[in-house]
Amino acid sequence: MNILVTGGAGFIGTHTLIELYKAGHTAVVIDNLSNSNPVALQRVAEIIGISQIPFCKVDIRDREGLEKVFAEHKFDACIHFAGLKAVGESVEKPWEYYENNIGGTLVLVDVMRKHGCKNIIFSSSATIYGDPVEIPITENCPKGQCTNPYGWTKSMLEQVLMDIQKADPEWNVVLLRYFNPVGAHQSGRIGENPNGIPNNLMPYITQVAVGKRTELGVFGNDYPTPDGTGVRDYIHVCDLAAAHVAALKCFAVERLEVKGETEEASHLNIYNVGTGNGYSVLDMVKAFVRVNGVNVPYSIKPRRAGDIATCYCNPAKAKAELGWEARYGIDDMVRDSWRWQKQNPDGYPED
Ligand code: NAD
Ligand code: UFG
Repeated sequence: MNILVTGGAGFIGTHTLIELYKAGHTAVVIDNLSNSNPVALQRVAEIIGISQIPFCKVDIRDREGLEKVFAEHKFDACIHFAGLKAVGESVEKPWEYYENNIGGTLVLVDVMRKHGCKNIIFSSSATIYGDPVEIPITENCPKGQCTNPYGWTKSMLEQVLMDIQKADPEWNVVLLRYFNPVGAHQSGRIGENPNGIPNNLMPYITQVAVGKRTELGVFGNDYPTPDGTGVRDYIHVCDLAAAHVAALKCFAVERLEVKGETEEASHLNIYNVGTGNGYSVLDMVKAFVRVNGVNVPYSIKPRRAGDIATCYCNPAKAKAELGWEARYGIDDMVRDSWRWQKQNPDGYPED
């Protein structure tokens, strides 16, 4: 298939491009580079062994820019990563988050349908479950109250895409609810490159290990978890990338014509994408130190506002229906995160 990859220069997008090409697909990337660097795409091309990844610097809110891309290429599907994702920033700048993530997606979807491309995989998040009513979380777990505007953009966009699919059954919508992506490609050439002080645990750990920050603050050790620190479902980004390729099968004609499935069920697909294992903050720190032989000083800090105690999924549906399951474990995650950070202490060089 030829795939439009929005936000393809970012962390998950770059890893997904590799999996797409490995599986024989081709891709065109659009990205406004607001949180990414074109060097990442050059490195993806090197890893794949092609001269370059087709790339257009276009903002998904720019209707004319999108029209041009669709006039020049024919797409079988869109994998839609583009969006702002910093939880704390979204509390400071809610308008910017709603406008970029929701406004941008509305323009994208409108241009897609005008050009007859009605297959979309959307990057959703475990955050839409709020404080989940069941652990492990299945896809039937009700959506919850989000604690920040970023989370609400994901929750609302799920609703927008479901309603659009319902009104026009030609749409095939896949909502992938990611748990906590970490790790990096085994080459160490691409990885997560946060701006400023990392919000997320793994890039903070790697920046402490490489000497850019003095110590990790562990946000709370009085949660009702085995060691008191927060438990999450960390997933290797290469596994997450592979889940997108597996999800393309939702668009296969045979699948859409499956007898016995309701119209809605075959055209709207929702999957948790995690490993099903919950690890605490201290489990992650200890694994990182053990596998990589580096020191990660830490101290216990107060809880972070909006955090929940425990979040991990039951990924059985993705295995049963997509034939996808995570292959990498915690040791792979911490090893590959460290390789990327060690080889690129300051992230990507300027283009
Ligand atoms: P990322 O910031 O590395 O990648 C997102 C990309 O989108 C960036 O390259 C950015 O420049 C681009 N972008 C942002 N707004 C745009 C716009 N208006 N037009 C065009 N491009 C735009 O983030 P990521 O970690 O790769 O996440 C990809 C997607 O997955 C996002 O939608 C994110 O919300 C979602 N997600 C991420 C996580 C996570 O922990 N990383 C968890 C759940 C869901
Ligand atoms: N943590 C620390 N210290 C830090 C950073 C994090 O102790 O410096 C702890 C948190 O309190 C939490 C765990 O590490 O217990 C994971 O925190 P992250 O910030 O890495 O991840 P979250 O689970 O809070 O959220 C992430 C993304 C969200 C996404 C969610 C589910 O940031 O965007 O996973 O996919 F919605």
